[in-house]
Amino acid sequence: MVESARSAELFERACKVIPGGVNSPVRSFRSVGGHPYFVARGEGAYVWDADGNKLLDFVQSYGASILGHADPAVVRAVREAATKGTTFGAPTEGEVLLAEAICTRVDGCQQVRLVSSGTEAAMSVIRVARGFTGRSRIVKFAGCYHGHSDGLLAGGGSGVATLGLPDSAGVPAPAVADTVVAPYNRIPDLDDQVACVIVEAVAANMGLVVPSDGFLEGLRVACDAVGALLVFDEVITGFRLGEGGASEWSGVRPDLWCFGKVIGGGLPVGAFGGRADVLSVLAPAGPVYQAGTLSGNPLATAAGLAVLGMLEPLSYAELSSRVARFAATLQGVLTDALAASGRVDGQGRPLEALVPVVGPLFGVFFVPEGSGPVRDYDGAMASAGTGIYARFFRAMLARGVALAPGPYEVAFPSMAHGVPELDHALEVAAEAIVDALAD
Ligand SMILES: Cc1ncc(COP(=O)(O)O)c(C=O)c1O
Repeated sequence: MVESARSAELFERACKVIPGGVNSPVRSFRSVGGHPYFVARGEGAYVWDADGNKLLDFVQSYGASILGHADPAVVRAVREAATKGTTFGAPTEGEVLLAEAICTRVDGCQQVRLVSSGTEAAMSVIRVARGFTGRSRIVKFAGCYHGHSDGLLAGGGSGVATLGLPDSAGVPAPAVADTVVAPYNRIPDLDDQVACVIVEAVAANMGLVVPSDGFLEGLRVACDAVGALLVFDEVITGFRLGEGGASEWSGVRPDLWCFGKVIGGGLPVGAFGGRADVLSVLAPAGPVYQAGTLSGNPLATAAGLAVLGMLEPLSYAELSSRVARFAATLQGVLTDALAASGRVDGQGRPLEALVPVVGPLFGVFFVPEGSGPVRDYDGAMASAGTGIYARFFRAMLARGVALAPGPYEVAFPSMAHGVPELDHALEVAAEAIVDALAD
């Protein structure tokens, strides 16, 4: 990036009136150095920052924008909805249509309730699981992120990991006393105190960590054995890995799901859903309270419906195969540069790059040669600890390609990332990694 004076100035002003200058910590660039670019506008695969730089954007609002920015169908839908009024506090047809669109695409998801964020979805689904089972304990996995509600902030990935926080201050011990944190990709011991196991079926908040063979199936069996509910947090994977998300991808059906991001088309939306008998505990039918002034907001449902209406199995398949080719080439480019640089880790082991890919999601790890795929949070932390991602990130950004500003995030190529964009990113990566390793 040539010029960044305007972003620098905005960040300085932001720091005076917004804690840390940002409204979500990972945006601060704290773990990669420098200051964030401020986005002025976006279109398709690109954003333009406040200084007029055009950036090829792999952040795409951390997965909220699967069609790319300002897709005309989404813009039209939001504009039309806005002319009719932005919120009513009474049900609208859009809510029914979006709930139907979700339930028809996700096999086994019989009902959904709409909320305004992924955090709300995960927080609410836990309450439902506890209300249904009459049990308190929940099990989550280290490095999985389920939003920032108190009880789920133990062993979190994403920004919690990026900032190196073991857990968050301000969360009283009793709030996490019933949260058990287990290592990802290992089946935890469960008992009849456990209300639910919540998991990112494909973990995408500690880089991209693919579930090992049998992990999700094993969780299903373990939950059934003790009468615990299985919850897939598909805030990232839902409607991104394919129409049926990670449950379709894995063939494992949870009892409950969390959704967000894609289903809001870039507007604030989340949803939780699943078995109708479980969801019947929710008020007004049942005793578990959950509510929201803006839940099912007409702008958000219009945007979500526009997005889901544009996505078809073929478009997912095409994007996934473009990204798979890209990821394989990127892995080779990064590994060749590492080999040429002679870089080793703290224990003197030569390093290689891994670029795991699931559907259209990919991640970047730097690991000891021959150590195999990253399977858990420890592996992800070791990769981040090499410091190479941060330098690679800066070198990419300097050349106009925006990855997420943290080693625990994944990349979100959108439907607007065609072969030319991906080829360009590869050319840039080949230069950037050399630069990053020369530091
Ligand atoms: C898997 C997962 N669950 C929940 C959340 C929280 O969603 P939100 O940021 O919309 O509150 C996120 C956010 O990145 C996520 O990745």
